[in-house]
Amino acid sequence: MSSAAIEFSRQNQSRFLDELKALLRIPSVSTLPEHKTDVRRAAEVLAAELTRIGMENVRLIETGEGNSGHPLVYADHLHAPGKPTALLYGHYDVQPPDPLGEWLSPPFEPTERNGNLYARGAVDDKGQMYMHVKALESLLTTSGALPLNVRVILEGEEEVGGEGIAAYVASQPADLKADFALVSDTEMFAPGLPTLCVGLRGMIYTEIEARGAKTDLHSGMYGGAAPNSFIALSQIIAKLKDESGRILIPGIYDSIIPPSSEELAAWKSLPFDEEHYRETEVGSRQLVGEPGYSVLERTWARPTLDVHGMPGGFIGAGAKTVIPAQATAKVSIRLVPGMTPTATFAAYRDFILHLAPPGVDVDVRLIHSGEPCLIPVDNPYIQAATEALHEVWSKETVFIRSGGSIPIVGDFARHLNLPSVMMGFGLPDDNLHAPNEKFLIANFYQGIESIIRFLEIVGEKAPS
Ligand code: BES
Ligand code: MN
Ligand code: MN
Repeated sequence: MSSAAIEFSRQNQSRFLDELKALLRIPSVSTLPEHKTDVRRAAEVLAAELTRIGMENVRLIETGEGNSGHPLVYADHLHAPGKPTALLYGHYDVQPPDPLGEWLSPPFEPTERNGNLYARGAVDDKGQMYMHVKALESLLTTSGALPLNVRVILEGEEEVGGEGIAAYVASQPADLKADFALVSDTEMFAPGLPTLCVGLRGMIYTEIEARGAKTDLHSGMYGGAAPNSFIALSQIIAKLKDESGRILIPGIYDSIIPPSSEELAAWKSLPFDEEHYRETEVGSRQLVGEPGYSVLERTWARPTLDVHGMPGGFIGAGAKTVIPAQATAKVSIRLVPGMTPTATFAAYRDFILHLAPPGVDVDVRLIHSGEPCLIPVDNPYIQAATEALHEVWSKETVFIRSGGSIPIVGDFARHLNLPSVMMGFGLPDDNLHAPNEKFLIANFYQGIESIIRFLEIVGEKAPS
């Protein structure tokens, strides 16, 4: 395997890495209002880079009010008549870095250790998104052209539900007209094992708010007579799942489309060591989950419910004797094929209102939602992707699903009729959303080569 573009990418590795570090220094945390200007600055840096490498029609697209309002970055290069058009997707926003004390080096000061680059966003998704940009640069610089037509769309709200891009895709589908999407925001199943992800879970992210008394109360004077909002909320939450991990919302499992027996058989042959997973990735004494399902089925093909935090009440150091008037829980449910956000939220909300204990008002709010998706694999783009991966990694590709969510991938299929190729280069121990997020630097470089070859092969195979 040698193309001029691959050679170029090899000769420019250290510059590519330095540029990625500069991008990682921008704290583009989409959920925190105090970082709004940082998010925009990341978008501007990317737009400038896309322009510099020779992409055209580069612009920021504003997303409406009513959501966080972080811009999309668009660019295209449409000069390969008769060739397919690729839509390259990535996100430049990141998760909050807390808990800060757990980081071995500061989250926004990218640091190399043991062949890894540590920073918030290193792998999710700035590092992976940047592989697309550097693959394009390598192709454009060495041939002055691209082997196919390319549109790039980058979003700054993926980590907060992606409503801006969803509205854009739904209202302006012609602007993103393409034949397939390339998404690098997923993981390899194991180090060195080329992987295509063909299914993602959807989700509903909600808040449950419980209100008891009209104001906070002295817990000695009123304890025993006044309802406690946190106890009420805990009681509700405790009834959402049973001890075995089954979700108790009526009907929640009824519409699920289970994986085919071929898919289940393929998962069984993946190199998965449950004990290693428990010890090195999860680090708990025991795994939990629905009886009768393997860990991969539980995380890829079954819905799950999790509590993310319960803000409210007294959380300072020391002790305060108060009965909090109000308590909130942030709760999400991951959805699998066959489930819809609307029906799931309705069943969930009804169940919670039914569980509300006497004397407490309960409100259930939907913060954001996204559909699950399953990608068809019988298309030439998946075929080209496995060929490119074989050249770069010298191994057959494995097909997996992921338990995570990338809301727009379902919309690409629904609104744009695009199959997505989810070619990701993260590793299972990359600490996404957690302290010490990292990206294996070798994967950054080999990812760029994989993407170059993928785009070249798609271009070569198309009749011209
Ligand atoms: N890149 C992840 C999703 C992911 C992680 C896919 C690992 C495959 C493997 C993405 O950035 C993400 O974290 N999505 C959120 C979506 C949500 C906030 C709507 C998620 O899954 O929690
Ligand atoms: Mn991501
Ligand atoms: Mn993420």
